[in-house]
Amino acid sequence: WRSFPIFEDFDGETIARLASLAHYRKWPAGTVLFQRGDEGQELIAVLSGRIKLSLITPQGRELVLRSIEPGALFGEMSVLDGQPRSADAVTVAPTEAYVIGKAAFLDLVTHRPAAAEAIIRHICGMLRETNDRLETLALYELNARVARFFLTLLRQLHGTDLPPEAHLRLSLSQSDIAGILGASRPKVNRAILALEEAGAIRRGADGVIACLLHPLMRLAEPDE
Ligand code: CMP
Repeated sequence: WRSFPIFEDFDGETIARLASLAHYRKWPAGTVLFQRGDEGQELIAVLSGRIKLSLITPQGRELVLRSIEPGALFGEMSVLDGQPRSADAVTVAPTEAYVIGKAAFLDLVTHRPAAAEAIIRHICGMLRETNDRLETLALYELNARVARFFLTLLRQLHGTDLPPEAHLRLSLSQSDIAGILGASRPKVNRAILALEEAGAIRRGADGVIACLLHPLMRLAEPDE
């Protein structure tokens, strides 16, 4: 349980209580775990695999809110506030998780201040990430959004002190990136080509992308 950042500061007794409340579940790729508007009866702590949380318009356009990796937790919002699910959740790889029921989790949060603090910190973290994305979506053109997306991936992989040239391998398709950046796939494709033409990235035949920090940063913060 301590491999979940949200639970790492919990005392042994709280971890034991959490473990006794959780149920192990396993799903194949492509399983719809819940949809926006459903009643939220449980939260999910992911052990392996990947889950996509997204908002989908009636016309089928998708905005990916977050890609849930092992060690992350989701589904806490409707459990805590009693409102319907705020997004759709679909497994995009075979996934294993612990599922914790609403009543048990609310009991834990009510009786253990460390659990309440951890969930508050977690929600603050979500809001900070959402603000960063809102800024990018509202205030930056698509080429800059794609450049910022690459910089975020690089910082996740290599830390904040990046070398002049760093490498990454995308595990996401251009459609996935389009869903994250609020654009269509052809526009994302054109923006990636523009980054390449500007000398900010080089795509290798092996799928590895070489990213040149300074040109990428200039494109991420254009003058106007
Ligand atoms: P819930 O509303 O129960 O179901 C959808 C879940 O998506 C939600 O709980 C959160 O766990 C997650 N979620 C909703 N909005 C965001 C967001 N802006 N950033 C990250 N995760 C979110």
